[in-house]
Amino acid sequence: HLTKSLLIISMGLTLNVQAQTLPTNTLTRDNGAPVGDNQNSTTAGSNGSVLLQDVQLIQKLQRFARERIPERVVHARGTGVHGEFVSSGDFSNLTQAAPFAQKGKVTPVFVRFSTVIHSKGSPETLRDPRGFATKFYSDQGNWDLVGNNLPVFFIRDAIKFPDMVHSLKPSPVTNMQDPNRFFDFFSHEAGSTHMLTQVYSNLGVPASYREMDGFGVHAYKFVNRDNQVKYVKFNWKSLQGVKGLRPDEVVKVQGQNFNHLTDDLYSEINKGNYPKWDLYVQLLDPTELNKFDYNPLDATKVWLDVPEQKVGTMTLNRMPANFFQETEQAAFAPSNLIPGIEPSEDRLLQGRMFSYADTQLYRLGANLSQLPINKPLVAVANHNQEGAGNMGHTQSDVNYQPSVHLALAEDNRYRAVTTALTGTVQQTAISKQDNFSQAGVFYRSLSKQDRADLITNLAGDLGKVNDTNVKHQMLSHFYRADPEFGERLTKAVKGDLADVKQRSI
Ligand code: HEM
Repeated sequence: HLTKSLLIISMGLTLNVQAQTLPTNTLTRDNGAPVGDNQNSTTAGSNGSVLLQDVQLIQKLQRFARERIPERVVHARGTGVHGEFVSSGDFSNLTQAAPFAQKGKVTPVFVRFSTVIHSKGSPETLRDPRGFATKFYSDQGNWDLVGNNLPVFFIRDAIKFPDMVHSLKPSPVTNMQDPNRFFDFFSHEAGSTHMLTQVYSNLGVPASYREMDGFGVHAYKFVNRDNQVKYVKFNWKSLQGVKGLRPDEVVKVQGQNFNHLTDDLYSEINKGNYPKWDLYVQLLDPTELNKFDYNPLDATKVWLDVPEQKVGTMTLNRMPANFFQETEQAAFAPSNLIPGIEPSEDRLLQGRMFSYADTQLYRLGANLSQLPINKPLVAVANHNQEGAGNMGHTQSDVNYQPSVHLALAEDNRYRAVTTALTGTVQQTAISKQDNFSQAGVFYRSLSKQDRADLITNLAGDLGKVNDTNVKHQMLSHFYRADPEFGERLTKAVKGDLADVKQRSI
């Protein structure tokens, strides 16, 4: 105790001495020492070389060279914003998850919206799904709902994700995105028909982040205190409405302001115009999983005709004070779950359960959860320790569990819910793939104008494909979704746009 007090006293003295001698606006080096000259390097005489002893020069250059961390391998360009989620009821009959425990309960949130494929400074006008990731700082720990603005995904098995992303990213040879490459991949992936139809609709270039819906995409499991399970999908509905840019508007906006999404969010929120989303859930009893023509745990499918129920409203109301600290360093992971929410058996989700935490250990390091933006509001109590940048919470020499010296113990109310399984270890695609019908349902749900725009958008990229087999395979997928869709697209790809123009009037 004596040594500790002396240390604290001496630290206090040092700080006091510094505060007394240095005016608060004195420029300092990272060690806190004042800088004498920030304009001229130290040289050996008026004509001599710069000296290695110029710590200020060297430290500035060193720190500058280390300003970047790896950008996210996907979703690199994004905009973060703080807000709150308010539960619209007590849903403890469905889930023990804290944010839904009582009507009016407020949970702070942080949302990061993003584009997917291109890098950090890329135009926000490029066609892409948009990320819609929400971190709930709940009183049972952080829950991340890492979703997109479209309700389905291109693939249904995580083993295909790196190949899909390679095909969509700029070519390793030319550094340009190339429809020849990604349609080559998708021509082997009939399950992508639904997502491609969505992303080539005007939803693929949102007018603003405020005017898009959000979807968890996968089924998760809601588990209540009696360990009863319901499969659940989470859907955000924008109270600002949903608006995508039409093909000619994309060109116009891109020419004027390719940061239109970020710009809109900063200016509207700073004006006090706070956007809101209602959160809806769709629920399925485990006994119902086999009653559909499709597999409800397949990420290429929406749950058609399964009713939705509103569970709360989110309001976004504060832009971060610093982009790097609160957005670039934010880490969302589908594996950040809390009691009452578990992953379903969806194969794509199972891969994501691993991938995000893994990439973040590389991108941000072992102590990423200690960064303020990622830190839970509740105390973290475990024996994960040390690593680069550790701010530490182990203050005892009992850094293991169980121990007679420590009361820290697990709470078996939070064990994983028991799930009955049957079958053999295997590598087989799912049955009931139903690759086309929901794409057709989506196509037919569009207005005349939106159908024409979809065909214009899709023909623009598909028309660039040189390989006729790839082109025909893709056209056959869209034809199988809806014959009218396939026929009009085939004409448009051949350059006959008369039909598109006529029907959009
Ligand atoms: C970001 C992998 C599918 C939404 C990421 C990142 C990785 C990744 C590695 C970068 C994370 C980081 O650096 O922090 C995967 C894999 C997938 C998959 C392996 C399929 C197996 C999906 C799906 C969705 C989605 C289906 C939507 C439901 C997002 C979002 C982000 C992201 C929103 C950005 C999070 C942020 O704002 O920081 N994904 N992803 N991903 N992914 Fe996925």
